[in-house]
Amino acid sequence: MLDGRKRRRDTSFLVTFREFGMKIAWGEYLSVGVAEIDNQHKALFEKFNAFLTSCENGNSADEVRRLFWFLGAYVATHFSDEERLMQRLGFPELQRHREAHQDFARKVTTLKERLAAEGPTQDLISAAFLTINGWLIEHISRMDRAVGRFALEKNVSAA
Ligand SMILES: [Fe+2]
Repeated sequence: MLDGRKRRRDTSFLVTFREFGMKIAWGEYLSVGVAEIDNQHKALFEKFNAFLTSCENGNSADEVRRLFWFLGAYVATHFSDEERLMQRLGFPELQRHREAHQDFARKVTTLKERLAAEGPTQDLISAAFLTINGWLIEHISRMDRAVGRFALEKNVSAA
């Protein structure tokens, strides 16, 4: 039987990245209207792009892993800051929002495990991009902006 699934070093993702330029882009439509949260989102996008650039440049698996771990740690801090803000505001959807954060944290954990086991293969980097990009855009534009509107109604800033 042919062993077509045998693992080998996969560098074809470099071509994919150069062709499609996988980057996450922050735009005004993602503005929550609370400066601290907007700034953290922008920093989060920068960290994710640093990870993608590292993959694109063919950096060592250790470097790619380090950047992904760094991204995961930043996400955890950011989520807890957001949840603290919601708590302070008395935001009624806090529990549902927290569950969404936990769902994302699980996705990141799964990606970390795959990264540790497989290294930065094309499949994995594509999956990370689609999962993280899709989730962040959807989450920020809907759930985080709802928090921003609520903060505006209450005339509260994150300061
Ligand atoms: Fe959020």
